[in-house]
Amino acid sequence: MPELAYVNGAVGPIEEAKVSIEDRGYQFADAVYEVVVSYHGKPFLLDEHLVRLKRSMAGLRFPAVDVAALENEMRHLFQISAIDNAALYLQISRGVAPRNHAYGSRAEPQIVMTIRPAPAIPAEKRAKGYGVITVPDTRWRRCDLKTVQLSSNGMAKQQALDSGADDAIFVGDDGVLREGTSSNLFMVRNNEVVTHPADQRILPGITRQVVIGFCDHLDLPVRFEKTPQSALVNVQELFLTGTVTEVLPVVSVDGKVIGDGRPGPVTQKLQQAYRAESGR
Ligand code: PDD
Repeated sequence: MPELAYVNGAVGPIEEAKVSIEDRGYQFADAVYEVVVSYHGKPFLLDEHLVRLKRSMAGLRFPAVDVAALENEMRHLFQISAIDNAALYLQISRGVAPRNHAYGSRAEPQIVMTIRPAPAIPAEKRAKGYGVITVPDTRWRRCDLKTVQLSSNGMAKQQALDSGADDAIFVGDDGVLREGTSSNLFMVRNNEVVTHPADQRILPGITRQVVIGFCDHLDLPVRFEKTPQSALVNVQELFLTGTVTEVLPVVSVDGKVIGDGRPGPVTQKLQQAYRAESGR
């Protein structure tokens, strides 16, 4: 099961893949990305990821790329890597050009991908749940676009690990709980499933959307609401969703226990639904 890289059409070993130092993704974080996983070799929710990719590119005024051709290349990588549970990372930068803030019209989008086994979150963590910390949201104001400007996310995740926690949740200047460093946040409050509205402050997660669909199916009422951190005392359950994260219970925030400190029934139901849908 080889790990592979793709650079503008050429496939080879990851260690040998090269891009220009004048790629705007490298110098300006002027690039968008997606992470798609496969289960039993089959890409999961690929169409949804491609729709969001187009949206991110349009949001940054990138020229259009041939998404149908790209989809074929992605499917091909999943196939030839033959990894049972793969994570395909796709990044499209605005292009290569002498460093200049204005991008003009000459640069051509550069497409790179890697494929390797999906990072494994230990089964015990999935069963017992995460402890998270809260951090101020220092990200830019277009978190709905999936760009590679991830310094804030990386720093928050590292701070969490350094303090013995598993992840961090971004809190806005208004005190609102937004999302995780690479996942969306849900809670169960007054027997409703509550999550942040899909505005410019969070990423419209593909997993988030799938989980909302499960809730509809399971007759669990969903409310889109900006929840202040101070409301955590009344929260029955908390969980994160994401392509790699899947559905992951959170049992403590800043050392304070949520609910009874164990994954709640709604979270477990949604974890089960996700396993069934993905075929994991
Ligand atoms: N991250 N919010 C943020 C900030 C994210 O980076 C991600 C995904 C999500 C969840 O989105 P989705 O359900 O579409 O994966 C929410 C990817 C996996 C990453 O950066 O590796």
